[in-house]
Amino acid sequence: MDERQAAARLEELRQQISIHDRRYYVLDDPVISDAEYDRLFRELLELEEQYPQLVTPDSPSRRVGGAPLSRFEEVEHPFPMLSLDNVFDESEFAGFDQRVRRFLQLDGELVYVAEPKLDGLAVELVYDEGVFVLGSTRGNGLVGENITAQLRTVQTIPLRLRGTGGQDPPGRLVVRGEVYLPRAGFEELNRQRLAAGEMPFANPRNAAAGSLRQLDPGITARRPLAFFVYAVADTAVTPCGCQQELLEYLAGLGFMVNPLIRRCTTVEQVIARYHRLLEIRLTLDYEIDGMVVKVDSFALQNRLGNTTRAPRWAVAWKFPATRATTTIRAVEFQVGRTGAVTPVAILEPVSVGGVIVRRATLHNQDEIVRKDLRIGDQVLVQRAGDVIPEVIKPIKDLRTGREQPIVWPENCPECGHRLIRPDNGAVSRCVNPHCPAQRLRSLIYFAGKDGLDIEGLGKKNMEQLVAAGLVRDIPDIFRLRAADLARLEGWGEKSAENLVNSIKAASRTTLARFLGALGIRYVGEVTAGLLARHFGSLDRLMAAGKEDLLEVEGIGEQAAASLVDYFSDPAVRQMIESLLEADIVIMPEKNGERPLDNRVFLFTGSLESMSRNEAKQRVKALGGQVVSAVSRRVTDVVAGAKPGSKLRKAEEMGLRIISEAELQRLLGRSQGS
Ligand code: IVH
Repeated sequence: MDERQAAARLEELRQQISIHDRRYYVLDDPVISDAEYDRLFRELLELEEQYPQLVTPDSPSRRVGGAPLSRFEEVEHPFPMLSLDNVFDESEFAGFDQRVRRFLQLDGELVYVAEPKLDGLAVELVYDEGVFVLGSTRGNGLVGENITAQLRTVQTIPLRLRGTGGQDPPGRLVVRGEVYLPRAGFEELNRQRLAAGEMPFANPRNAAAGSLRQLDPGITARRPLAFFVYAVADTAVTPCGCQQELLEYLAGLGFMVNPLIRRCTTVEQVIARYHRLLEIRLTLDYEIDGMVVKVDSFALQNRLGNTTRAPRWAVAWKFPATRATTTIRAVEFQVGRTGAVTPVAILEPVSVGGVIVRRATLHNQDEIVRKDLRIGDQVLVQRAGDVIPEVIKPIKDLRTGREQPIVWPENCPECGHRLIRPDNGAVSRCVNPHCPAQRLRSLIYFAGKDGLDIEGLGKKNMEQLVAAGLVRDIPDIFRLRAADLARLEGWGEKSAENLVNSIKAASRTTLARFLGALGIRYVGEVTAGLLARHFGSLDRLMAAGKEDLLEVEGIGEQAAASLVDYFSDPAVRQMIESLLEADIVIMPEKNGERPLDNRVFLFTGSLESMSRNEAKQRVKALGGQVVSAVSRRVTDVVAGAKPGSKLRKAEEMGLRIISEAELQRLLGRSQGS
């Protein structure tokens, strides 16, 4: 291959690799295998090594890092990178809307675009003739730092833009957006840092900042950073008339645009969107700290213009702060379901993000030592959505000298049994099987969301039932009688009956759920599912030895040993026997007993003995399929009362038609196995 051919091949490789990068990183939809990709990449590297003069700045090989810098150069932004004004509640947002309208003298519809406010680092990227040539931090808004080499390593930053709609990208395009570290990458990074004895990062934002401000871009390259675009410095160079068009245009050029961006035409829609984002915030793989609302039209944006600090056409509606300072009054030691002892700080009540926080977990003894916490300390507390609040650190400057050390108990605070610390790990445990605290926690777990999810039997009610002596163990739950419940303080006949009914409803369950509810150590939801599928019935699982258990794909030593231990306990066997006597029905699992394997059911008309949904679920639990369209695949048409046109069609096709009674026989035959 001569140099001319090499140049052509390199161009081809660069294009192909960037197409596959985009499919993999931006669209999450790869079309070639990792091995094929590696082959392309290796060929590129080899050719570039042979012809170093042919290496271009947009080559994917440049993503790996490049030479370390001695310092960051300064970069002047072509247009200042402004910040945003903040609002914190609905009325403040309504105020923004009114100001915009007054300024524009507008009565009619005003279109906004609501975007998640990404909590990463704002950066600016310059593309010349479609090639990424310069990247910088925001800095003070006028001058930032040149981090081009670092940004090249971010896989979702295109090194070369694609043409879109038959048009080439503008000669010079300056885009802005946020570099962030996905939560998963952040957690993995901190795990590595802890293992290496380094300080973990406090949050993904700091980790992203730390990763970008590495003089050695090779380090940045090893961090799974990502980039969402949300603006251009100068909208005039684009063919777009509004923010929505711009985002589509930028996606077309190869950028990643946040999928949660929405158009809103009323203030009510903006408000609803804010609450929606607040609600889903913790389910996202990246952190957001609010919502940015922008006037959609560029013409209107231009009329509104900017102040020196921020545009008048956009505002950041921040989420409530999730950190606050308060005082540790005392420390309690809580005994969990597995006997693990958790220290809990009792706090001077404080509002954190709109919720009053009175307690916060201190995790374990090592954490207390590491953070050097004392009773009486002023501390920073944090709440992240639904999760238990935690104490971040003491504010040591505010110490008076009267703070008291936190003394770790030698004995279980609930039953007095001596605590042990297995393998000198971080966790102390009460190993008394009769410890009342463990029993209560196990019961709460059994009835709770991760267990059978019995409606109306949450933590508070369970505590009351245990305190009243109505529930001592799991089978007692199923023996509860409405008359006894109704006599309890705060209960009436109706609420008592409701609870008995919801217990009855929950007593029909699957093996996986039941196993999970027992809270056996090392047997979480996933493991429970594996076991249920493998063994199919409780009897078979209980009869299994350690070797049998280890044969199950995904079951390890710890879980196997823990299961054998658990089921060999006579008290456990006794409990399970009582449970089955108490009429708990464990429905068989898929891949366990599957008497309806290969059968395809279609329902028409209404059923009397159960809901359509329940029938479907039970068919599926026995291995059957349920479809809604008549076809040759259907093996059984269940005809209930007042069947629809599907029945006639099924008859015409000569399909097998069964009655509700027959269905019941099919479902019932293998029940309780
Ligand atoms: S637009 C002139 N959109 O918020 C307005 N900013 O306080 C330019 N940010 O430093 C910003 N998500 O880092 C915009 N969807 C979004 C954003 C966003 C996060 C950050 C950005 C900026 C800060 C402004």
